[in-house]
Amino acid sequence: MSQDGFFRGKTFDDFLFRPQKGVSESRRQISLSSSLTSDLRLELPIVSANMNSVTGARMAMAMALEGGLGVVHRGSSIERQQARVAQVKRARSAVIEDPLCLPIGSSIRQAREFARKHGITGILIEERAGSGRLAGVLSSRDMPWHDGADEEPVERFMTPFERLVVARPGISVEEAEKILFDKRIERLPLVDEDRQIRGLITRKDILFLRERPFASRDGKGRLLVGAAIGVRGDFLERAVAVIDAGADCLFIDIAHGHSEMMKEAVEAVRKRFGNVPLVCGNVATGEGAVWLAEVGADAIKVGVGPGRGCRTRLETAAGVPQLQAIREAWLAVGDAVPIIADGGVREDKDIFLALVCGASAVMLGSMLSGTDEAPGHVIENPATHEKKKIYRGMTSPEAVLETLYDAGGDPEDTEALETPAEGQELQVPYKGSVVDVLHRIRGHLRSAVSYAGEQSLDAARRKILAEPERFLIPLSEAARRESYER
Ligand code: XMP
Repeated sequence: MSQDGFFRGKTFDDFLFRPQKGVSESRRQISLSSSLTSDLRLELPIVSANMNSVTGARMAMAMALEGGLGVVHRGSSIERQQARVAQVKRARSAVIEDPLCLPIGSSIRQAREFARKHGITGILIEERAGSGRLAGVLSSRDMPWHDGADEEPVERFMTPFERLVVARPGISVEEAEKILFDKRIERLPLVDEDRQIRGLITRKDILFLRERPFASRDGKGRLLVGAAIGVRGDFLERAVAVIDAGADCLFIDIAHGHSEMMKEAVEAVRKRFGNVPLVCGNVATGEGAVWLAEVGADAIKVGVGPGRGCRTRLETAAGVPQLQAIREAWLAVGDAVPIIADGGVREDKDIFLALVCGASAVMLGSMLSGTDEAPGHVIENPATHEKKKIYRGMTSPEAVLETLYDAGGDPEDTEALETPAEGQELQVPYKGSVVDVLHRIRGHLRSAVSYAGEQSLDAARRKILAEPERFLIPLSEAARRESYER
């Protein structure tokens, strides 16, 4: 197949694309919307890698708020992974489904401590502990200023139910917003006909969400989050736990996804959860992509060995240059099952090339590492004052050990370390907030779409996918130097 030949042995630095006549008046209007799975779409088609030095709860929240997706890693105990997923689902939701309450009879001192501990400014007061029946609201404005009120009960200062503005559960965000504005109030408790607390909507959260129109959300307005599981051992228990916590899709993630083990794992997950969105990987060939499509994946993760923390190619000689792998996978399954390109992205232009050669979304590890939101501490070199963070391949000895400890394993049990490493640990420069990295990527992707003569990523992608030889220019060594050496 000629298109196959065009991409053989090729990866990101092997091509530029031919600029087209620009049609877009404003780059800000260029849509980057793309499919993650058959059912889920992202406004920024970027996924943070399920690695323990990349995606915990903070990264997953930031990714979803910017329109991407975070995949919480599985290098921890099931309980910790479940808690991280739950934290994302509770964060920055239009409707707080399970608001925090204190019962009547609590003291002002307790209320102050409660508010400080949970970082909230208004407390719902329930009739009796655990009754869930709304008695009033104690906001920061109701808190007495004068000394000596610490042991007074909250009901002396709260706004009682009779004077509260409340709404029924199921109210739309728009209706709630109107009430909050019309009545000039900060929070709107949601109660049923029996005054049972069913949720809380706050002005602060609504304003925050308005500033993030791209955010990836589920049907209830909660942030989207993915969670990784494996194919062995307690993988089904893990799946149950993360789905219970609200995970929107599962990533069945193993180094060699073109395998019987993957098929058996998908069957087991399907049997248990029906049609939960399932991303499966990794593969690097057309045959591998067809295999995953046939076993029932909702998206296929492509990439064997291109990652910055990977040593698979160096140690085993297995792998396919990443752009060839993406193209082969797309030629094999088309857009019927979206492809997520995973690994090897070093520059923003690589993301665009991955997308116009077949991927629908791109998974990033090292590019998002070193940020505030990535797990781990900033290390400062005492001599140069350079700041770094650690990025580690998931099969690096360090990550394997961390996983062992974090999963509550026996540190004396060295079996996990007996498999020779196919990953390595690196120090990466500290980069500040991942939000800035994502803004930069969004800007460069829009710019690339504009150079491609289109108004949306979707259109640019369709155009170049259909005729890559017309739009992509293979580079000579000299052209590569001219393009990339600075
Ligand atoms: P980047 O290049 O974005 O790649 O840092 C992230 C991807 O690398 C893969 N990964 C590994 N591959 N050994 C490997 O062969 C490893 O130890 C390892 N750890 C991560 C993974 O697919 C990730 O998303």
